[in-house]
Amino acid sequence: MKISIVGAGHVGLATGIGLVILGHEVIFVDINDNVVKAIESAKPPFHEEGLEDAMERHRGKYLVERNLQNAVASSEITFITVDTPSDDSGSVDLRNLAEASSQIGRALKNLERYHTIVVKSTVPPGTTEGFVKIILENTSGKKAFIDFGLAMNPEFLREGSALRDFLSPDRIVIGANDERTREILEQLYRNISSPKLVVDIETDEMIKYASNAFLAMKISFANEIGNLCKKLGIDSWKVLEGVGLDHRIGPYLLKSGLGWGGPCLPKDVRTLIRQFKQNGEEPLILEAVYKVNKEQAYKLVQLLKKYVSNLKGRKIGVLGLTYKPGVDDVKESIAYDIIKKLIDEGAHVIAHDPLGVQKFKSMYPDVSKIIEFAEVPEDVLKKTEIIVIATEWPQYEELDYSGKIIVDGRRVKKAEKTAAHYEGLCW
Ligand SMILES: NC(=O)c1ccc[n+]([C@@H]2O[C@H](COP(=O)([O-])OP(=O)(O)OC[C@H]3O[C@@H](n4cnc5c(N)ncnc54)[C@H](O)[C@@H]3O)[C@@H](O)[C@H]2O)c1
Repeated sequence: MKISIVGAGHVGLATGIGLVILGHEVIFVDINDNVVKAIESAKPPFHEEGLEDAMERHRGKYLVERNLQNAVASSEITFITVDTPSDDSGSVDLRNLAEASSQIGRALKNLERYHTIVVKSTVPPGTTEGFVKIILENTSGKKAFIDFGLAMNPEFLREGSALRDFLSPDRIVIGANDERTREILEQLYRNISSPKLVVDIETDEMIKYASNAFLAMKISFANEIGNLCKKLGIDSWKVLEGVGLDHRIGPYLLKSGLGWGGPCLPKDVRTLIRQFKQNGEEPLILEAVYKVNKEQAYKLVQLLKKYVSNLKGRKIGVLGLTYKPGVDDVKESIAYDIIKKLIDEGAHVIAHDPLGVQKFKSMYPDVSKIIEFAEVPEDVLKKTEIIVIATEWPQYEELDYSGKIIVDGRRVKKAEKTAAHYEGLCW
């Protein structure tokens, strides 16, 4: 099939290259010139395991366009994969979605053929039918489900294993309100053997939020248990290993520590909390999930103060800036919260990250102006005795921590075994 992907970011690019691998022809469209130029030279504009190789191997089977209308005109399906950020109140910014939808609508206007539009961006329940559909109909002068198809198909991939996750997902959830669109999407994914669930559009939008909220809840639960275990002198990782062996619970994400950040869980939990409130329901669990997570950074800094009661003028090392290892993404990274607290208390911070420094500098200019960045992690260890571990990069298992005070939010075994003073956040 011929497919357009509008928004060639983490989700759009992995989805598009995944579809190319499945035998489809793909045209990427993006408003960011750097993204377009990177794809033109078969390079992902961000770090993603395996993506560059796949782009190189499949050169010629995908194109990149600046003009969305041309892309729609030469394809059968258009995926919308633009970013849908949310602010502190959980309100989702739908401006990119609106712009993409109205351009697609304008392209549909002149199109003789049937075309299917699929919303893959994470959007609050009701958005595809109550927002995207209206824009498409108004700008095209055509009727959804009659003149063109409309579906929702959320993405569950994880950054760092995006291509693998896209090609072998736990499930594909197709949100379609008409038979024709459902068949088109089933046909598109016929070569992926994962279970497929077909639901209506609004149910599908909700499945995405409920899934992310559950993942966040599992981690916050592990952290709350971890905080009590720490007080009782019990190793919470052993406890959670025992808990996770119950097949009704499962071991995944049951690791206590600094908690969750990144481009999805924080914003999606905030949006779901807002949805509860807007609908007169109290989000009792989710507010606690969010609060537990926010407090882990604060607890880590408190733990540090066991060793350095006054941080003013002290040099503190921070290992790791990205929200997890294997990515260069620093969106809502907990390392930022830690660094901010350290700076507020007058500490001098020297930070290292193997991939995230550039993005950290552009996303957080406020703290980046003040802190020092180390080229290699050894420099952090050379320059200070007191170090916080914020991201569990594998290379941090290779360092020499002897003589150091380590406060660890992620459990780096080498540090635990060899540091002069070692303090785990939840163990
Ligand atoms: N990143 C993840 O791990 C992940 C996983 C699952 C779902 N999601 C969801 O997928 C969606 C996309 O997320 P992402 O992480 O890929 O975002 P991203 O910021 O990496 O990429 C979005 C891309 O869309 C482009 N864009 C914005 N407006 C556009 C327009 N009008 N026309 C063309 N291009 C436009 C941007 O330039 C950018 O390259 C979001 O709704 C997100 O919640 C993300």
